[in-house]
Order: sequence, then structure tokens, then C-alpha cells
Amino acid sequence: MSMSMSMSMSSSSSSSLSNPPTLTLRNGLKHPVIGFGTYKVGVIPASASSAVASGGPNAVERTAEECVSDALDVGYRFIECAQFYANESEVGKAIAKSGVERTDLFICSKVWTTTIEQGPQAIEEQLKKTLADLGTDYVDLYLIHWPVPGKHVEAYKTLEKLADQGKIKGIGVSNYAWEDYLELKENGVKNLPLVNQIEINPFLYRKNTIAKFADEGVVLQSYRSLRDGKAFDDPTILKIAESHGRSAAQILGRWCVQKGFVYIPKSVKKERMVENSKVFDFELTEAEMNELDSLTTPDAIETFVSLYRKCVNRDTSKDGTLDGVKMTITGD
Ligand SMILES: NC(=O)c1ccc[n+]([C@@H]2O[C@H](COP(=O)([O-])OP(=O)(O)OC[C@H]3O[C@@H](n4cnc5c(N)ncnc54)[C@H](OP(=O)(O)O)[C@@H]3O)[C@@H](O)[C@H]2O)c1
Repeated sequence: MSMSMSMSMSSSSSSSLSNPPTLTLRNGLKHPVIGFGTYKVGVIPASASSAVASGGPNAVERTAEECVSDALDVGYRFIECAQFYANESEVGKAIAKSGVERTDLFICSKVWTTTIEQGPQAIEEQLKKTLADLGTDYVDLYLIHWPVPGKHVEAYKTLEKLADQGKIKGIGVSNYAWEDYLELKENGVKNLPLVNQIEINPFLYRKNTIAKFADEGVVLQSYRSLRDGKAFDDPTILKIAESHGRSAAQILGRWCVQKGFVYIPKSVKKERMVENSKVFDFELTEAEMNELDSLTTPDAIETFVSLYRKCVNRDTSKDGTLDGVKMTITGD
């Protein structure tokens, strides 16, 4: 199911990157459909070891403050952050220098597994730090980064309390399988997640899972919409890009927003930030959308399930084990 079938997307004739189309979340919050992703911007987190092993030039290329200043200058107003990205104070400096009004920004952050494992007080302290680093007294969205086994429900309930205090406008989750969401429901969570941030692109298009969340009114934020820059030479993408006179990145971005997913491309290069934002002025045909939809293989779903099992305990005291991990989840 396309998200746009269950969520209404608003865009006015004056839509631009600094005034982008929005989706209305269940609590009435207007969520921009495009934002700037800050993972590996300025810093590569220590436990993202594969990225470091492959060189990780972004760690030193430009600071996060410089990159986010560029993103704000280009017009991005939704900044997608996380404790794990280790750059929120730099993001905060860029915001402060930009002079953009807080009310014109939409800020999302996520609490990391180490903190989730430590429990409610650690989560409260982390949110305080994130707010201080970002230079704000509230985040628009705050997400549980991973559904840490045995810990994520308690963490979610802590976020509900912090939302009651006005520090969080909306609560969401990330990397939740359908079964993790059911666990929240079964454990008496009152304000169910407004968003679930998961990898979505034509190479990992988990139709079944997406339809289940969409039916519940949970907006899907797509991460790795650009497949982390690793699929630009795919022949189907290139063929469609050529027929529209667009770049491969723009085809992936257009597929994402045309499906009704929130799109949060990351680049440390200003010209690419501009390029990535140009996805609202052309349309893919139904045949092209179908062709892109079919790029997800059974192998990709299997790889995803293995990665889920590995990552839910990552950085916690159970890292490297399957302790508490759900072995059966909806993969597709
Ligand atoms: N919740 C989670 O667990 C999770 C996981 C991953 C990501 N995320 C979020 O989602 C955001 C996006 O995902 P991502 O950063 O992993 O990957 P992505 O946006 O799919 O791709 C980023 C990669 O593509 C390259 N790139 C970007 N635009 C390009 C263009 N126009 N032409 C050529 N190359 C281009 C970037 O290189 P340059 O920077 O050198 O341009 C970078 O290597 C993250 O920043 C983060 O906010 C969340």
C-alpha cells in the first residue's frame, strides 16, 4: 500500500525546500517530507566499524557544523539527528549561527541503545544533553533508535513521560519490526509511535511491513533512501534517470517521496544537497514505479533479517549475542 493512500500529503503552490510538502501525523504535527540526514556527517561513530575500515573520509573532510550550515543555507528545515551520530553539538552550532527561527525548524533525534539499556534516568539525562547540544528546549520527534530486547518498552514509556513535560512533541521508533510494535501495544503503551524510521529504497522495499504500519497510521521515514550511495550504477535506475534527464540519486529520491515516505538524504557536499532536494518537480510513471518496486530480492530480505538480529543488541552488554532477540519477525 502506498502511504499516500492513508496519509494526506499537503503541498501548496509555494512549496519549496524551506517550505516543503508535509504529512500530518496522528497528533496533528506537520511533518516535512524531506529532511537532511546527519549520520556520518563530520564524525563516524566508533562502533560503525565497517565505515571506518573503508576509509571514512567524511570523518575529517568537513565538520558537521559546516555541513549542516550548508544544508540550512540550501533550505533544508528538517534536521534528522541522533545521540549515536556524536555530532549534535556541532549541529546545534550550525542552527544557532543560521538565525533560522526554531518554529521554522523540524528536529528529530534518537536515543541510542547504550542509554536505553541503562534505563529511564539515563534516557532523561540524554534528552537533556541532546536539547542542550542542539540549543533547543524541545525536539519535534524523539525516537527509540533500536528496539533493544527487554528494554525498549520501558524506554518508550519514559519518552511518554518526557513528552508530557513538553520536551518531545511526538514519539516515534526506528528499526522496529512489526513484532516490536505489537510488543508496545501488548504492554499498554498509550501513545503509539507516530513514525517508524527504517531502511526503505527500491532494493529494500518491505511491502508487507510497510502496509501494516501504514494501516496503523504510522508514517514511514525512509533511511538509506539513496541506498547509501551504493546503487547509482544499477541499470534500471540509470535507464529511468536517463529518460527523465535526472541523476540516479534523484530517481531514488523521487521514488521515495512519490511512495509517500519521508525522505532524509545525507550528503556532505553542498551541490549534492541541492541535487537531492530536486524531487518534487517531476513524476515517475506507474510502469517505472513498478519496475523500481521489483528490485528487492529475497536475498535482500534475508540479509535485512540477519542485520536486524545483529543490530538490536549492538553496543549493549549483550552485543554479539542473540540474547532476547526475536528470531521470527516479518521480514518482507
Ligand atoms: N535509524 C537508523 O538506524 C538509521 C540508519 C542509517 C541512516 N539513518 C538516517 O538516514 C539518513 C540517510 O541515510 P544514510 O546517510 O545512511 O544514506 P543515504 O542518504 O542513502 O546515502 C548517503 C551516501 O550517498 C552519497 N550521496 C548522497 N547524495 C549523493 C548524490 N547526489 N550523488 C552521489 N552520491 C551521493 C553520500 O556521499 P557524500 O556525503 O560524500 O555526498 C553518502 O555516501 C542518515 O544520515 C541518518 O540521518 C538512520
